[in-house]
Amino acid sequence: MLAPRGAVCLLAASVVLCTAGLRSDASRPAAAISLDDYEDDDDDSSFSFTFPDTGARGLAFGFYDETCPDAEEIVSSTVRRLFHADPNVAAALVRLFFHDCFIHGCDASVLLDRVDGRKSERDAAPNQSLRGFGAIEQIKARLEAACPGTVSCADVLALAARDSLVLVGGPSFPVLTGRRDSARGFYDEVEPHFPGPNATYAATLDAFARRGFTEREAVALLGAHSIGKVRCRFFRDRIYDFAGTGGPDDSIDPDMVGEMRAACGGEDEDDGAAPMEMGYYRQGREVGFGAHYYAELLEGRGILRSDQQLTAAGSTVRWVRVYASGEQGQEAFREDFAHAMVRLSALSPLTGSAGQIRITCARAIQRPLTTAENTF
Ligand code: HEM
Repeated sequence: MLAPRGAVCLLAASVVLCTAGLRSDASRPAAAISLDDYEDDDDDSSFSFTFPDTGARGLAFGFYDETCPDAEEIVSSTVRRLFHADPNVAAALVRLFFHDCFIHGCDASVLLDRVDGRKSERDAAPNQSLRGFGAIEQIKARLEAACPGTVSCADVLALAARDSLVLVGGPSFPVLTGRRDSARGFYDEVEPHFPGPNATYAATLDAFARRGFTEREAVALLGAHSIGKVRCRFFRDRIYDFAGTGGPDDSIDPDMVGEMRAACGGEDEDDGAAPMEMGYYRQGREVGFGAHYYAELLEGRGILRSDQQLTAAGSTVRWVRVYASGEQGQEAFREDFAHAMVRLSALSPLTGSAGQIRITCARAIQRPLTTAENTF
């Protein structure tokens, strides 16, 4: 039973009620998992899961209920409007949120422009291909019109990512609010903490582990790569002359090599800019969020080497197999993905009187930096 689009989650104590899904415990060791561990709920119109212990203090459900009661509706209606004008915005917003939270927590530092020649996070190589900044500013402008200086850019990112996922058929998950925005970016931290698109599974898992994610959570989060586009520059070295072999990466299915070369326009024409669909709209057909991604990996059809690497290690391929195994696997994925997104959204938020509420997301409110902050 797949969760219907537009699914919502309600919180009761630490148990979250969501539209359809399965029971599982995200903290179980991977070795103990098989599809038999996933049982259907009696009531197949909803599922419950234990709200992961995120350790985040100061976030709350409905943080803006008193100060900006329409905040979440303003975000979701604007995301819907943007999505109907350009469905690609959903993938862009999900990625933007991940890139924000992974560096110094979910504090909207990724949105900041350069200041006084100081490089911003956007200048760092892993962030140069991010999109969606204009969409975030549009949402923020509507919020400023309704409730000036109240809703943080960090919360806009979190809510917009969740709403985007629902629009592309992904699982809904509860988003706590009350994050505040950082006054500065963290350019120097970006490259060391993001694994590259050719990373080995060990490097990818290590990057996630440093942020407290298990292998299972890492494999689930990478299911986000079932939506959006990837430019040829991120995989061209796999399809023509991989590692000096004179041929393609032999972990790629031969038919897929052809598709990847065609998407890039051929070796002579390939300037790295052409985009290839991650697979959500494979061959013009909508194939769903998550379902297709893992099945494709098992067939050697991962576009990024770092994705394909998930099938190279026993500890990760077991999750790829679980998530690829039909309807039950898809349900398992949706629940694990929702859990992992909740944990992602709680990475080191600024709360209480820390940080600030920016008016424009690209610009911090200027004030003298403390000594601790002034160490780029
Ligand atoms: C840590 C390992 C990861 C690597 C190496 C990686 C790398 C990449 C690369 C190279 C692209 C293509 C960018 C472009 O061509 O413009 C991409 C796109 C994307 N990534 Fe990741 N990514 C990782 C993890 C994640 C995670 C955890 C998420 C979300 C939870 C995510 C969400 C996305 C989305 C939605 C897109 C499509 C963006 C668009 O169409 O604009 N990625 N990623």
